[in-house]
Amino acid sequence: MHPFPAVDPIPLPAPIWLFKLLHIVTLSLHFVAVEMLLGGLLLAVLLSLFGGSAESRVAARAIARRLTVVMTFVINLAVPPLLFAQVLYGRALYTSSVLIGVYWISIVGLLMLAYWLLYRFTARLEAGQPAWWVGLSAWLLAGFIARLLSSNMTLMLRPEVWRDMYSASSAGAYLPTGDPTLTPRWLLMMAGGLFVGGLWMVYLAGRSTFTAEEKRFVAGVGGKVAAVFGVVYLLAGMWAAGVQPEAVKAGLATHPLYHLASYAGYGWLALVAVAVLLGVLAGVRRMHAGWVGWTGALLVLLLEIAFTVYRDAVRDLTLLNKGLDVWNRVVVTNWSVVGLFLVLFVGGLGALGWLVSVVARAEKGMEGAA
Ligand code: HEM
Repeated sequence: MHPFPAVDPIPLPAPIWLFKLLHIVTLSLHFVAVEMLLGGLLLAVLLSLFGGSAESRVAARAIARRLTVVMTFVINLAVPPLLFAQVLYGRALYTSSVLIGVYWISIVGLLMLAYWLLYRFTARLEAGQPAWWVGLSAWLLAGFIARLLSSNMTLMLRPEVWRDMYSASSAGAYLPTGDPTLTPRWLLMMAGGLFVGGLWMVYLAGRSTFTAEEKRFVAGVGGKVAAVFGVVYLLAGMWAAGVQPEAVKAGLATHPLYHLASYAGYGWLALVAVAVLLGVLAGVRRMHAGWVGWTGALLVLLLEIAFTVYRDAVRDLTLLNKGLDVWNRVVVTNWSVVGLFLVLFVGGLGALGWLVSVVARAEKGMEGAA
């Protein structure tokens, strides 16, 4: 019996390549925001807990102040890829979401709690009160949400376990077990958080609102964190790639289309390596020049795109191997609607860029002032 539910009889209203392009663009942006949140939050917690100096308190506050805004981007940049993923992979993704239904729906509540804790964390830091345990609670919740997302994104690729899971609980009360790809994949995202968080600090060090000593401190810590966790991120990535099924590895080597994605994998490796060197430079020399921060930001954007392309190929090849070909759909394109959508989409991205620039230019007061 075919493991996937029957395809929806309504044809797709736009070409598959377009859905995939939109999916990869929006998911890459979600990943940038997710990594900033996961890494920035833990760094702010550690700085507030262990950093005895005035500079570390200033750095913790500067990061925390921005995290509530970052969370807005995490969520708003999560909805579009969720919608595109549902259009393309609904037959797999809906099934896995139902199978872990209790956990999947709990993300809404966990997210609200994490968001509230972020506000409390910032407020306590601003008031000079002990805040690390509030921030740590928010980080644990965010890490658990990440784990649930990794669980679902890997369960959707394993139709062979669906029937047993449903027999065990039709209420969606169990999480999947026994998938060797799950933990490396989750750890990859968690390590990427500290790597991106470190580069974010290097970028922040260029802000004119810090004193000269604060700038050197923020760049030094950020650069060193980026360098160390960039290496961990690289190793986790190689681990996650290494545990993929042989059929997927063979597909990446030989499939006419997905072979191209293996170059995205090498691109990711190269970009992370360059970013690690940048981290070493910024960390050791405590460099806070604007170009260092902007180079780091550009590298993060590019490496998240490369990562998302590779990850997408791994998913498509895994599903193809199990009988679901994402390209095999009836498409009846409604070009006027697609055109209108694209105009609005590009306008939306422009608005997003403008919002980010407003955030970057805001807060003219000194960072240290509580
Ligand atoms: C604290 C909040 C969040 C964190 C830490 C987070 C983290 C992550 C992580 C780690 C992944 C990659 C999972 C993997 O492939 O192994 C991911 C993917 C994803 N996230 Fe988020 N996420 C958050 C919020 C959200 C929200 C609110 C939504 C939905 C509205 C969402 C939608 C998605 C989707 C759809 C994917 C995968 C898309 C795909 O594979 O096509 N995320 N997220």
